[in-house]
Amino acid sequence: MHITIIGAGYVGLVTGACFSEFGVFVTCVDKDKNKVESLNQSVIPFYEPGLEELVKRNVRQGRLKFTTDIGEAVEESLVIFIAVGTPPRGDGSADLIYVDEVAKEIANHIKSYKVIVTKSTVPVGTGERIRKIISQHLREEIDFDIVSNPEFLREGAAIEDFMRPNRIVIGAKSQQAAAIMRDLYKPLYLIETPFVITNIETAELIKYASNSFLAAKISFINEMANLCEKVGADVNVVAKGMGLDGRIGSKFLHAGPGFGGSCFPKDTRALLKIASDNNIELGIVNAAVKANERQIMTVSEKIKSALNDVKGKTIAILGLSFKPNTDDIREAPAVSIIQNLLNAGANIKTYDPVAMDNAKAVLPQITYCSDAYEACEDADAVVILTEWNQFRNLELAKLMKILKQPYFFDLRNIYDPQKMKETGFKYYSVGRSL
Ligand code: UDX
Ligand code: UDX
Repeated sequence: MHITIIGAGYVGLVTGACFSEFGVFVTCVDKDKNKVESLNQSVIPFYEPGLEELVKRNVRQGRLKFTTDIGEAVEESLVIFIAVGTPPRGDGSADLIYVDEVAKEIANHIKSYKVIVTKSTVPVGTGERIRKIISQHLREEIDFDIVSNPEFLREGAAIEDFMRPNRIVIGAKSQQAAAIMRDLYKPLYLIETPFVITNIETAELIKYASNSFLAAKISFINEMANLCEKVGADVNVVAKGMGLDGRIGSKFLHAGPGFGGSCFPKDTRALLKIASDNNIELGIVNAAVKANERQIMTVSEKIKSALNDVKGKTIAILGLSFKPNTDDIREAPAVSIIQNLLNAGANIKTYDPVAMDNAKAVLPQITYCSDAYEACEDADAVVILTEWNQFRNLELAKLMKILKQPYFFDLRNIYDPQKMKETGFKYYSVGRSL
């Protein structure tokens, strides 16, 4: 089978590379000419473990190619995935300008039956919107179907999540389109991956509901962490005790500085907008968003009050990406926390294994270092914001020597409070009183 993926970003590129690994012939279309050229050289424009090798192998074997020419790609494909960005607008709604543009371009080029699939996270009702746009712009009466096939890829684990998904969700009106999608996903079908086949609106909502629930879980444990600090409890043990209940599950109960990334913040806000457009109150999702905004402020205040006053003080920030194994700093808590500390007069030195180039565009005024120890040299405090593995075993004795003051803010709870105290640090974490 031959498919087209429109939008070679995180979602589109991983989806295209993984399908080509299944033996599908994939053409990835992107309007960004430079991106297309570097991808045809198998140069990946962002960090995603394993992706470069996957792209290289499938480009070499002729199953994966990149182009800016949407016409040729659409003509030779039976299935066309829309994986362009759906950035949030000021009011929280997802901006569908790129989706609309791509729908018109598809309409201008289809000459035979096609299945058009929304892979990007799109508001409920977007399938119908795309159907109308294509019908209006078709040059002749051509049969086509719309399918919603939302992605559940986690950055840093996207290939794993594609190859071994918990489920495949397919929203389709026509049996024929659903059958074609089953055929496309046959390799996963054979390993008994559960399929949820439903209507388009339901499939569109499953994605928002899943991400919003995960975000609510994180906000729940972050609020529990704040209470733990007051009552002398340990949030990690609370999370363990909760998670052993099969109905709760242990995942996504790690307290921290709040959730970031290009999905949870965007998808929760978009879902709230969809709800308010339909006069429905989603109090729990709203509370999760507000709790997340509070959490970022809470941890910033924790640093400022512990140091008494950060004005003129040097703070070493370890980790800028919104989570490990990605260079993505979109809505990363680190960006807000650093801006907060800069506003209070602090000097910031930082190190992140892969996200510093992206951060320089947003935070040009801070000092970027070549490793964690250079960042900590002469600093009044060290703050761990992203739990990269290389920050889990810092040489503590060396840190004690090079820090000007022994303040250690472990905002991802990766160190043992007792041990840190014994080493002589003024140690702070999230939800664990010493
Ligand atoms: C984003 C969101 O992060 C994700 O939650 C949503 O499901 C899909 O949109 P992502 O892959 O991260 O996914 O988007 P982005 O990294 O912005 O890549 C979008 C790509 O589409 C870019 O390469 C852009 O050049 C390309 N594009 C955009 C087109 O080719 N044509 C367009 O009209 C618009
Ligand atoms: C998420 C969803 O997991 C994925 O299914 C969806 O397709 C896209 O959005 P992603 O945004 O890449 O994936 O990151 P994820 O691993 O979910 O983490 C999101 C944020 O929550 C990160 O900032 C992370 O640090 C934070 N987080 C996650 C916590 O603070 N605590 C946790 O226990 C888990």
